[in-house]
Amino acid sequence: MAKMEVKTSLLDDMIGVGDMVLLEPLNEDSFINNLKKRFDHNEVYTYIGSVVISINPYRSLPIYTPEKVEEYRNRNFYELSPHIFALSDEAYRSLRDQDKDQCILITGESGAGKTEASKLVMSYVAAVCGKGAEVNQVKEQLLQSNPVLEAFGNAKTVRNDNSSRFGKYMDIEFDFKGDPLGGVISNYLLEKSRVVKQPRGERNFHIFYQILSGASEEFLCKLKLERDFSRYNYLGLDSARVNGVDDASNFRTVRNAMQIVGFMDHETQSVFEVVAAVLKLGNIEFKPESRANGLDESKIKDKNELKEICELTGIDQSVLERAFSFRTVEAKQEKVSTTLNVAQAYYARDALAKNLYSRLFSWLVTRINESIKAQTKVRKKVMGVLDIYGFEIFENADNSFEQFIINYCNEKLQQIFIELTLKEEQEEYIREGIEWTHIEYFNNAIICDLIENNQTGILAMLDEECLRPGTVTDETFLEKLNQVCATHQHFESRMSKCSRFLNDTSLPHSCFRIQHYAGKVMYQVEGFVDKNNDLLYRDLSQAMWKANHSLIKALFPEGNPAKINLKRPPTAGSQFKASVATLMKNLQTKNPNYIRCIKPNDKKAAHIFNEALVCHQIRYLGLLENVRVRRAGYAFRQPYEPCLERYKMLCKQTWPHWRGPARAGVEVLFNELGIPEEEFSFGRSKIFIRNPRTLFKLEDLRKQRLEDLATLIEKIYRGWKCRTRFLLMKKCQVVIASWYRRYSQQKKYQKIKSSAITVQSYIRGWKARKLLRELKHLKRCNEAATVIAAYWHGTQVRREYRKFFRANAGRKIYEFTLQRLMQKYFLEMKNKMPSLSPIDKNWPARPYLFLDSTHKELKRIFHLWRCKKYRDQFTDQQKLIYEEKLEASELFKDKKALYPASVGQPFQGAYLEISENPKYKKLKDAVDEKIIIAEVVNKINRANGKAASRIFLLTKNNVLLADQKSGTIKSEVPLGDVTKVSMSSQNDGFFAVHLKEGSEAASKGDFLLSSDHLIEMATKLYRTTLSQTKQKLNIEISDEFLVQFKQDKVCVKFIQGSQKNGNIPTCKRKNNRLLEVAVP
Ligand SMILES: Nc1ncnc2c1ncn2[C@@H]1O[C@H](COP(=O)(O)OP(=O)(O)OP(=O)(O)O)[C@@H](O)[C@H]1O
Ligand SMILES: [Mg+2]
Repeated sequence: MAKMEVKTSLLDDMIGVGDMVLLEPLNEDSFINNLKKRFDHNEVYTYIGSVVISINPYRSLPIYTPEKVEEYRNRNFYELSPHIFALSDEAYRSLRDQDKDQCILITGESGAGKTEASKLVMSYVAAVCGKGAEVNQVKEQLLQSNPVLEAFGNAKTVRNDNSSRFGKYMDIEFDFKGDPLGGVISNYLLEKSRVVKQPRGERNFHIFYQILSGASEEFLCKLKLERDFSRYNYLGLDSARVNGVDDASNFRTVRNAMQIVGFMDHETQSVFEVVAAVLKLGNIEFKPESRANGLDESKIKDKNELKEICELTGIDQSVLERAFSFRTVEAKQEKVSTTLNVAQAYYARDALAKNLYSRLFSWLVTRINESIKAQTKVRKKVMGVLDIYGFEIFENADNSFEQFIINYCNEKLQQIFIELTLKEEQEEYIREGIEWTHIEYFNNAIICDLIENNQTGILAMLDEECLRPGTVTDETFLEKLNQVCATHQHFESRMSKCSRFLNDTSLPHSCFRIQHYAGKVMYQVEGFVDKNNDLLYRDLSQAMWKANHSLIKALFPEGNPAKINLKRPPTAGSQFKASVATLMKNLQTKNPNYIRCIKPNDKKAAHIFNEALVCHQIRYLGLLENVRVRRAGYAFRQPYEPCLERYKMLCKQTWPHWRGPARAGVEVLFNELGIPEEEFSFGRSKIFIRNPRTLFKLEDLRKQRLEDLATLIEKIYRGWKCRTRFLLMKKCQVVIASWYRRYSQQKKYQKIKSSAITVQSYIRGWKARKLLRELKHLKRCNEAATVIAAYWHGTQVRREYRKFFRANAGRKIYEFTLQRLMQKYFLEMKNKMPSLSPIDKNWPARPYLFLDSTHKELKRIFHLWRCKKYRDQFTDQQKLIYEEKLEASELFKDKKALYPASVGQPFQGAYLEISENPKYKKLKDAVDEKIIIAEVVNKINRANGKAASRIFLLTKNNVLLADQKSGTIKSEVPLGDVTKVSMSSQNDGFFAVHLKEGSEAASKGDFLLSSDHLIEMATKLYRTTLSQTKQKLNIEISDEFLVQFKQDKVCVKFIQGSQKNGNIPTCKRKNNRLLEVAVP
């Protein structure tokens, strides 16, 4: 979703005023108060038009986050609250889109935050410009050049723990798209005196401490250094350690940065060797030695340090030693060597150390430039960032040559600021067609002239003095100044011809004072000549050139005897003047952007706003003048579109929309508001407002109007909200009501419907019942009619047929009834039939008496039928057995008491297995016929009635009795000789076999035998006899019968005996004629 654009303005939610141009009334107090108010609310940035005033917060504020970068990206300068990012964005966009080279001039005193500001600008630009691997590498190299230069060029001072001791101007180069290509760094006047001496409470350059704290033991050993700070004379002992600064970790950062920037390992090594050599130089001490010619000579006290330096730098020890003892002056092909006294030797030593270090620093800058140089030759757009030391004023005339140079530089910057600002202002008026009114302002060109004029300027005087033959001292220089500059308005001195200051005791005799644009500064003249000369004895530079160390050799090209140059090297002053001139030329070609840094207190502390200190800075930075210049013409200007957009609500014609051109709209608006004509002018694209008061009036009106509008909007909105709510509720109510009505109607309808159905059903029921009743009635009537008709017909028919009916009716009815009954009987019988077993005695009861005989007959027939059925299943063998059984039944049933017991016994016949048992072999052999019965029987002795076992055999033709043991046949009777068999009617097995009188067998008499199988034997005997002889064997059953014993006949009588002997009948001979058998 596209981000909704919210038009904001610097004027929104302002704390104090965001732009000092709008300050009303404008005076020092209100200016400071405004700054203080904003500072107290963490607003560290304030504008003067397009200039950014930055107050050092001395603590990290959350206003540099990537989100903030995004917020300020591509926004108009006055759209958001003042910020360094707004200035950076403006500069970058102007460079990218309008092809204007930019420079960002950052000024302010030491500790005011210049270096931080320059880094913020660079990081902002890095964040918003193009991306990509190559571009990122360039960015990284540009950003990483900072830690390297800070390590070598920054030091802790009383004002700032990380004070830049050199001026720096960096050109960042971009291609046509605005992607960074590379950069060029220029450095200005490193404060090299710091190498050999530091003021109280200050330190040497960071790098010395960083090496000693952060380098490994091994590396230190290589550099012949010891970790102990106190071992080195050049390291001021107080504040060797700075709170919140970790030298060791910074050392790692620096080495890492050097690597990123592109330093080779051997280069890094050489750099640190030079640093070590400088540090060790400070430890070389001299002692005086008198020479014969009366001149003082110096000698190195302890040569050990010298030896180590020479080892480190590859310099011949004797060469260096000599260089510290002699000074050779060459003039007109003549060489004159003079010895150095101790003071001169120390001077030479320090000069060497300072030169070594400052040249090393310049070499570093050149080396970095080599790395970050743009790789293409296409035209580049340039953004320059100038982080230069600010105006410096020490108390008590402590200001020396360095301060003079620094302040000169600031004068020049002020000059260019005035020129560019006014020029820009002027150009804008011309561009916009506004009448140009002259602006009164202080032009410091006159001060610049005092310093840099080629003939009468202070720098020119100094050079002249330095080059002049004869004795030159700082005093002679001051004298000269007094002569030449005496009449200059901005020059003050006790000794000058101008009597104004003759009695000014605040001005010492050895000093001169300059009224800089930012205030008066008193300079102590001592050291000016020396520092300007910046003398390094040629012997030393030659000794350095001879070093077997490529970096050191390169640092001292003038030491090469082949290139000997008798001309004096340019003085420090003229060098600086020249480089400042180049810088100014460079800046003039670019669009300037100013950041003016202010230091709120001397304690490096957050939240403290020292008004006096700030006031001082405001004065010398000329900020009030800045505002005045800005306001001299018109305090405020704005393109017509945003102006109309912002104030259109103040006039009916322009609110809410103005259809015509914006300018006409603004005209209408301003006329309508009755703003006096002298208060504004119409430019081509901008409206110019002369007085901030007018703008504030507009703002107040706008605020008021906005409140009214807000109320109106609120009112309308509330009305709209209520109305829409009401309409919605109404709509809802209608919907609800309609639904409810529908629902209630539905309910009602359903109720009516169900009632109707109930009523209807009752009516229908009633109707149906009524109909039913009628139909029933009708039916009954019909039936009655039918019955009556039937009776009537019956009566008629009977009447008619009575005569025929009477004759046969009775018999017919009888037969019919009988038939029916019979039918019924048989059908019932069918269902009641008993089982098919012949022994089943069941038979259904007789239903009707008249069927008695039929029923019995039926029973008999059924029994016969089922017997027949049963018999039909028999095999022939079974049939034979049953025939025998039937025979037995006919013979003995109801005659002999033994019979019933035999019915269940099967007739086996051969109980003894004659043919199988070897015992009866003889018997078997004797009987060749089929044996029908073979059984053991008891033969009753006729004499005593005792029983003896015999084998009874019945064959087809004979009855045989054999000995049971031997099997010998005792008697054999042909069947034809058997006449009768007698037995009792009782339950015994006695029987007598009567033989034919006169037969051969009869000679011994009849047999009286007893057997368990009497019935079977008798039956088989009977059947065999019948089949053989065709005569029925007589079977007598009687309890008394006669038996023929030889000649006698004995009566066998059966009596009921006691059960003394169990169930066995006993036989006793009673007398000759009687044999008694007791049957139990
Ligand atoms: N915007 C800032 N936010 C937070 N701290 C800051 C900011 N600007 C400066 N400081 C603090 O103030 C200290 C001094 O700032 P800086 O080194 O930029 O001063 P300077 O103007 O460059 O001084 P010199 O002229 O001595 O180099 C910084 O080390 C930092 O602690
Ligand atoms: Mg700095």
